[in-house]
Amino acid sequence: MITEKQNVYITNHSLIKHKISLMRDKSTPTVLFRQLTKEVSILLGCEALRDLPTIEVNIDTPIERCSEPMLSEPDPAVIPILRAGIGMLDGITEIIPTAKIGYIGLARNEQTHEPEEYYCKLPPNLSDRTIVLIDPMLATGGSAAAAVELVKRQGGRRIKFISIIASPKGVDRLMTAHPDIQLYVGCLDRCLNENAYICPGLGDAGDRIHGT
Ligand code: PRP
Ligand code: URA
Repeated sequence: MITEKQNVYITNHSLIKHKISLMRDKSTPTVLFRQLTKEVSILLGCEALRDLPTIEVNIDTPIERCSEPMLSEPDPAVIPILRAGIGMLDGITEIIPTAKIGYIGLARNEQTHEPEEYYCKLPPNLSDRTIVLIDPMLATGGSAAAAVELVKRQGGRRIKFISIIASPKGVDRLMTAHPDIQLYVGCLDRCLNENAYICPGLGDAGDRIHGT
């Protein structure tokens, strides 16, 4: 990971970049797009979760007893932002299968480009957990900032946000609103277009994941 500014981590991993390039290709079919989303999520997830809290536990290996680290309780919470975030959920839960899962439903208003909330169901005891918000696209940053706000209102404090592609504006808006979170990004793209889509981006992530 390359750290561009405080708490923002942008990957320089060749495998991640390669897979995101395949996702960008408009001829990539839904089935492959889903698979790539999952694979990129695993790779980004490994980076984002490298500092999950651990405790030392006693383990008897076939050779001897030792004291080694294991993830401490309580389990992390993973929260996809609907709909597109769902595409990243399988990948993240593959690497933390005990995670508690919540959902935040936000849809961008096509005129204002601002998010509108339609669903929010989060795991209990958020204040004690590491929270991992997932959404492949960070465009204006409005959805991400609103999702973090919802998590904080329910007590969340230790928050990580993973996105596959981000725009500079989106990163600035999210980190200005919530400088205390950690943001992990697969690719930082050039800009937004007049419809607030990321350029070059990959189009509408929700549609490409859900085949709609
Ligand atoms: C997309 C994407 C983000 C949001 C990013 O979702 O998955 O949630 O847009 O845009 P922003 O940074 O400008 O807020 P969308 O609202 O299109 O809903 P969908 O996932 O249901 O397609
Ligand atoms: N939402 C998407 O799915 N793609 C973009 O480029 C911007 C918002």
